[in-house]
Amino acid sequence: MKTPFPLTPLTEHDPLCGRVQEILDLCEAAVTGTPTLLCGPPLSGKSTVLDRVQSLLAQQGMTSIKVPLQGVGSARDLAERLALAAARGLAQGPAKTPSEDTSFPHMDLARVPSPLTGRPRTVATGDPAVSGTTCLQGVLGRLEELISRAPGPVHLGLDNVEDLALLAAGEVEKALQDFLASSQVRLLIAGSRKADLLPMFSAKNRPLKALEVTRFSLAPLPYSELLGFIIFQFSRSGKTCPRSVAESVAEISCGIPYYAQRLAHHIFAATSQVPESEAVAAAAELILDGESPRYGRILAGLSPKQGCVLQALARFPQIPVFTSDFLKRNGLSHSTIQRILPKLQDMELIIRTDRSSKKYRVQDPFLAEWLRTLGRAV
Ligand SMILES: Nc1ncnc2c1ncn2[C@@H]1O[C@H](COP(=O)(O)OP(=O)(O)OP(=O)(O)O)[C@@H](O)[C@H]1O
Ligand SMILES: [Mg+2]
Repeated sequence: MKTPFPLTPLTEHDPLCGRVQEILDLCEAAVTGTPTLLCGPPLSGKSTVLDRVQSLLAQQGMTSIKVPLQGVGSARDLAERLALAAARGLAQGPAKTPSEDTSFPHMDLARVPSPLTGRPRTVATGDPAVSGTTCLQGVLGRLEELISRAPGPVHLGLDNVEDLALLAAGEVEKALQDFLASSQVRLLIAGSRKADLLPMFSAKNRPLKALEVTRFSLAPLPYSELLGFIIFQFSRSGKTCPRSVAESVAEISCGIPYYAQRLAHHIFAATSQVPESEAVAAAAELILDGESPRYGRILAGLSPKQGCVLQALARFPQIPVFTSDFLKRNGLSHSTIQRILPKLQDMELIIRTDRSSKKYRVQDPFLAEWLRTLGRAV
């Protein structure tokens, strides 16, 4: 029986929990030509919402181009990703421009067999004889032309745009801004890591500030909506999810769609008819095992002191951080906490749970659990 809770990125045919209003609002912003920034913590469902918005717009005749920017490493890399995504989007748009007919200056778009599967796929390669910025300007210039010739509006989705900030390249942002200002493209940008993301669109010296994006935040899935979704999807697929099991999923996941979906997937897969409450703990264990390499990478990317504070917050989220109880238990000083908290907040690793008494918790409930299981020395 096909699971209603797939682990792979959701297609437009997979069931979605909530997000109806968000998707409608973002479609409206696209239709009215309002450049929009969709931000939310990691795993909050930004890419999924972006995909749904684009498929709804495509049904209304818009051409959708989605550019994944996760890990983008250079202006050349960005140019290649843009060219590839544009060729794909235009091939699927109303004009159905075959990718062979979409050419970009300084860019080779070729169908090559995948070394892994043997199946042909399109690969974009920037001309090594010209600079990355020249490649990028060439692609953007041509894209502007293609957009102006498209039979209807073109929607551009830039996903994980926070990674652009890592390029530290004003030239890239300037080239993008020039393109966005002069083309008629409808824009939806998605990203996390507010500390990188927000200055890109709001700091005085950043070119993309001129876009005046409308900010849109993605909250966790509402508890009751998630509960109803899980119970309904089980019953639609011929199984029965007791309310208590669905409640546990909603609580343990803290409404983070990535975890809710995974918990429900494992529970669904492990039961023939009606899951018992132990199925939730078993599913959570599977997630912890599967995700531990990722958590290890998160911790490895922090300074030792940052790791200590993160672990302390995972262990004692109920104790206000500047009390001697918290400081003593964790061997931390007032000044260390003061210095490190904003950094961890900027990385969206922690959130404040009580404004007046200064309590914080690790945002990701599974990362918190993993941190609690580590030895004290980080
Ligand atoms: N509304 C939803 N209903 C059900 N499952 C969802 C929903 N949104 C997201 N998911 C699940 O969560 C997973 C992660 O979502 P997604 O990749 O959209 O998050 P993200 O915020 O883009 O993550 P990242 O921060 O890594 O970019 C999806 O693959 C899907 O399984
Ligand atoms: Mg994403």
